[in-house]
Amino acid sequence: KNGGAMLRPLTVIGHRGARGHAPENSLLALDTGIRLGAQYLEFDVQLAAGELWLLHDLTVDRTTRSKGLLSTMSAARIRALRDKSGEPLPTLREALDLIENRAGVNIELKSWGGCAAAVAEVLREYINEGWPAERFQVSSFHHPELWEFHQLMPEVPIGMLVCGVPLSWAGEAAELGASVLSVSAEFVDAQLIADAHARGLQLWVYTVNDRKQLRALRALGVDGVFSDYPERALKA
Ligand code: G3P
Ligand code: MG
Repeated sequence: KNGGAMLRPLTVIGHRGARGHAPENSLLALDTGIRLGAQYLEFDVQLAAGELWLLHDLTVDRTTRSKGLLSTMSAARIRALRDKSGEPLPTLREALDLIENRAGVNIELKSWGGCAAAVAEVLREYINEGWPAERFQVSSFHHPELWEFHQLMPEVPIGMLVCGVPLSWAGEAAELGASVLSVSAEFVDAQLIADAHARGLQLWVYTVNDRKQLRALRALGVDGVFSDYPERALKA
């Protein structure tokens, strides 16, 4: 119940593709997220050996059959990596080619220094080929990197990621030109949602897999939820 107020439509974002169903940040996870009906797919990108790769951690230890820091590896070594399902690490271009026009694309910048420029270069190519800039959302916890991206490509929507709620969030969001504020679920309440909406920001919440919590956040009036199980969020 939300006191009878009209609920805004809920955007469902498949987290690392659809991490609950397939190895995170793999092409299979992206495809699964789309098949389950996610309106956006979120994945993490890092720059290494001059290329952008989909990977969440700084090391490949948890998600692949190898060990080591991605940033210290050669392109040949990275191409030879296999995730636990035997799949190679996708590049940003491979991910975009797979998604095509089937869903929105939320690219989270995970590595610092050069990542913004490299992502801008790739997105510029796709936008020049006719992809709408609004198809993308670029986000990061690293706000200077996000700011740099925004200077390079002001036409691409920005998602400001925060874990807690910093005192300066509203000013930072304005400076970054953000259209979405994405907050860790435990910090979301009605006041924050109202404040975000009053500033013209959508409020997205990560990462929510529990059905009850999904329904509660929906009733509270959040605009988007990241979920490892997009089908659960769609039901909420
Ligand atoms: O972008 C939302 C969420 O993915 C941020 O946290 O650690 O899953 O990348 P993390
Ligand atoms: Mg992420």
